[in-house]
Amino acid sequence: MIELINGDCWVELPKIYSRYQDRNIILVSDPPFNIGYHYNLYQDNMNDFEYYSYMGKIFRQHPSVIIHYPENMYKLADAMGSFPLKIITWVYNSNTAKQHRDIAFFKIKPDMNKVKQPYKNLNDKRIIKRIEEGKTGAKLYDWWEVNQVKNVSKDKTTHPCQMPLEVMARIIGILPQNALIIDPFMGSGTTGVACKELQRDFIGIDIDEKYVDISVERLKNHSISIAN
Ligand SMILES: C[S@@+](CC[C@H](N)C(=O)[O-])C[C@H]1O[C@@H](n2cnc3c(N)ncnc32)[C@H](O)[C@@H]1O
Repeated sequence: MIELINGDCWVELPKIYSRYQDRNIILVSDPPFNIGYHYNLYQDNMNDFEYYSYMGKIFRQHPSVIIHYPENMYKLADAMGSFPLKIITWVYNSNTAKQHRDIAFFKIKPDMNKVKQPYKNLNDKRIIKRIEEGKTGAKLYDWWEVNQVKNVSKDKTTHPCQMPLEVMARIIGILPQNALIIDPFMGSGTTGVACKELQRDFIGIDIDEKYVDISVERLKNHSISIAN
């Protein structure tokens, strides 16, 4: 099941919660960072207090996976009234001062064994033995080096801050299979593409019709593979 909604998540989430009371809901999102980013419609410039209390209210009702700048996770944890049970760092090459973000798991612990990464040292005797035994890769580390989506990337959309599919697919892959994944700030729909590929139920919301149209288009055509 994949559902895309054009609307304000503050208004839409309660309706979804009452429709899916029997489901194991997990919110997974790369929300606006409140840094004055230039979106098509959304003004990314609340005052700090308003921003964190808003984010706290959106995310604290259900287990949530939130992607943010590391230093802001403390403020988010304060607003949510709970500490993350796990933090994974996403590292990327960039010519700006920011070269990593954190992925914080609130009220849920991911299963790091569920997604494999390629073995690094193929000459190591222990690795050779594991490959002979039919193992396909190593347990995920808690830091992931994945390039940001570049303007020249083949799946780049016109959304200004599209997440790499590999990051979202790893996150979804280490969450329970039966969860209903909701991205309240869906943007170009990368979380939805990951859910579609990994056969998870997904509901995405964006306030901007232009971005919902991009998500609809991407969800029609995408195909990826990740090691499992
Ligand atoms: C950081 S972007 C998400 C990018 C996304 N991860 C991707 O891969 O494209 C945040 C999105 O939140 C949307 N947004 C902001 N406020 C919203 C609200 N109240 N309800 C729903 N969407 C909202 C913006 O339009 C923007 O597309």
